[in-house]
Amino acid sequence: MNAGTAWGILRAVLSVMFPTRAFVIVLACAGALAPLPAQDHQHQTKASSSAAPAVTPVGPAVLANTSNQPRTVEVTLSAAPTRVSLLPGTTTDVYAYNGRVPGPTLEAHEGDRVVVHFRNDLLEPTTVHWHGLHIPAMSDGSPFHPVAPGRQRDYVFTLQPGSAGTYWYHPHPDHMTGAQIGRGLYGTIVVRPAVDPLPPLREQLLVLSDNRLKSDGAIDWPDPKSLQGGIDENNGREGELLFVNGQIKPALTIRSGETQRWRIVNASASRVYRLALQGHTFLHVGNDGGLFETPVEAKEILLANSERVELLVRGTGPPGTRAALQALPYDRYAPPTRPKDWNTPRDLLTLQYSPDPPIAPVTIPDRLRAIPALDPARATVTRVLTLGQGIINGRTMDMKRVDERARLGATEIWTIENIVAMDHPFHLHGFQFQVLDRNGVPEPFRSWKDTVNVPKHETVRVIVRFDDFPGKWMYHCHILDHEDHGMMGVLEVR
Ligand code: C2O
Ligand code: CU
Ligand code: CU
Repeated sequence: MNAGTAWGILRAVLSVMFPTRAFVIVLACAGALAPLPAQDHQHQTKASSSAAPAVTPVGPAVLANTSNQPRTVEVTLSAAPTRVSLLPGTTTDVYAYNGRVPGPTLEAHEGDRVVVHFRNDLLEPTTVHWHGLHIPAMSDGSPFHPVAPGRQRDYVFTLQPGSAGTYWYHPHPDHMTGAQIGRGLYGTIVVRPAVDPLPPLREQLLVLSDNRLKSDGAIDWPDPKSLQGGIDENNGREGELLFVNGQIKPALTIRSGETQRWRIVNASASRVYRLALQGHTFLHVGNDGGLFETPVEAKEILLANSERVELLVRGTGPPGTRAALQALPYDRYAPPTRPKDWNTPRDLLTLQYSPDPPIAPVTIPDRLRAIPALDPARATVTRVLTLGQGIINGRTMDMKRVDERARLGATEIWTIENIVAMDHPFHLHGFQFQVLDRNGVPEPFRSWKDTVNVPKHETVRVIVRFDDFPGKWMYHCHILDHEDHGMMGVLEVR
């Protein structure tokens, strides 16, 4: 059965809905990414694989700024094969940015000019895509601009006013994005405003990923022709091992009464996280494109592939106690390929309260910023994008084709309808949009997004303004196996 056949069969199955076919996820291994040597500022990275995890902050390193110019961040980034120890007594061949998994964090301010000197030390082409940033198409690191093995490329862009938020960078070569991210190439971008509306809080950056390893430590990529290969291709590849910043079940500390600011990135190929913190309610303050206008209380957060959130975690627990951040069951699957353990909650990390007496909570402002509404009455075009299984509007990606053409300056409404029985997180490059409604239900509050999960058989409408940056942009499903299969299209703005 070749790949094309597998997709054809699944498309048929999804429209007819055969009874569930049982299958087994083979995997029983545990371990943690060991800290790797690198030249970047080491914040604190510590392996923890024991039952009683070391209580250490787990944030990735920050890229060192080598510029002495004001409002300029100049960094050096390389992608290269590296060997690390993921399972005790074994090694795993990975790909890493600057020798680290996750890659080091790019930190900058709104208005900064960013210069990234990138070098591809892989044996295959790659790119660096700056997911979510509103920057020129030439700097986007899309499949149109591959960097050949051994070659360098400078990515240069300026961070827009109002863009403060959490973004990420990852490879985007034609048909190989999933394989390269799955081998370890992903890192976070934190854009800060000149003046932050939130009071100074302890920050935690949590990059979520998962993987599947063989008993010898090697990354387990099934034969595409096998049953598991077919399942991976259709579900998107999921692994049993859940990592936070490359570590399995690390621990964070908090003091009773303290409020922390968590930035969370979903860098998984296909796993969707329904996040909840035992005994706590989040204050949801932002997502893909930065802060909301007003904080929102949230018991749980659904974080689809490539989405980011900012949460305030309030230390309402007593000193000395602990709570788990969990991934609760979320059924994004079509019945024929739904994993049999999908319904099991999984612990991602432990929040450990220090024994110190409680401190007085800080006051969080109830107004964070203004997000001007894009006005549907001013939209000049409405497009319908139909998501099938592995296809958009009935076809797969062709780099030589332009699927949608938009006028520079235009405001458009995109109706994204999912006609199959599996969720597809839809991502647009280069432009942040606002969700108008989901299945006709108006979005309760405004925010800037670059990815929106479109659940099975649902329709989401978004509004976007192509205010700048002509060129060719991708839009696609961010389940990486779907994207690599060609569930992607080209938008030309001019
Ligand atoms: Cu995370 Cu095409 O992007
Ligand atoms: Cu992107
Ligand atoms: Cu998809």
